[in-house]
Amino acid sequence: MTFTFVTLFENLVSPYFEDSILKRALQSGKIKIDFKNPRDYTDNKHNKVDNYQAGGGAGLLMFPQPLSALLDELKRDNPNVHIIFPAPAGKPFRQIDAKRLAKKEHIVFVSGRYEGIDERVIEEYGDEVFSIGDYVLTGGELASLVMSDAISRNIKGVLGNEDSLDEESFEDGTLEAPSFTKPNIFKGSSIPSEFLKGNHAIICTLKKEMSGLKTKYFRPDLFLRNKGQ
Ligand code: ADE
Repeated sequence: MTFTFVTLFENLVSPYFEDSILKRALQSGKIKIDFKNPRDYTDNKHNKVDNYQAGGGAGLLMFPQPLSALLDELKRDNPNVHIIFPAPAGKPFRQIDAKRLAKKEHIVFVSGRYEGIDERVIEEYGDEVFSIGDYVLTGGELASLVMSDAISRNIKGVLGNEDSLDEESFEDGTLEAPSFTKPNIFKGSSIPSEFLKGNHAIICTLKKEMSGLKTKYFRPDLFLRNKGQ
């Protein structure tokens, strides 16, 4: 998988890949990353990438020309690129999207800054527009990182232990059950006794119950959605 980050601020993104699991994924060649800066594709004297909004409105927008030149070049080099625009007005990014997108060959994340990107660029080039939550970030970089992280860990060979993908939150539409490690008693609170006895069938039933309760309590929206299925 190749991730191309289209951003004016490469330094906001690149450090995340310098440690831990994604560093290893890069080293082993499971993922590749590169960066493209819209400012390198401008055709104006001062390398401007933003302008006032048509019809008024606070803040500046990234105008089409640099992004269009950049994305045309990317598509020429690889017609199979899958282009994603992170935006608060996108559809919610979910675990099933992370799993589905992990099978792509090359994903491009186009990060807007200022007040965003001229809508016609998104219409012309966007394969998908995703929001990572109901709040507004200062740009698309963090959202691109969130999505590339969630996608990467679903690529075969990226996680040390692939089993962890099966049991985790959202896998079956519920939140993951609580988990525990040593010590058996921490600040007066004990690990549930059945967990210490080691009967896996009982532990599995208990975990399912806890997972249901946790989902109902913390994410009633998910709980109701599951019941509707
Ligand atoms: N850009 C700014 N806010 C965002 C959000 N919530 N999700 C995705 N991209 C964004």
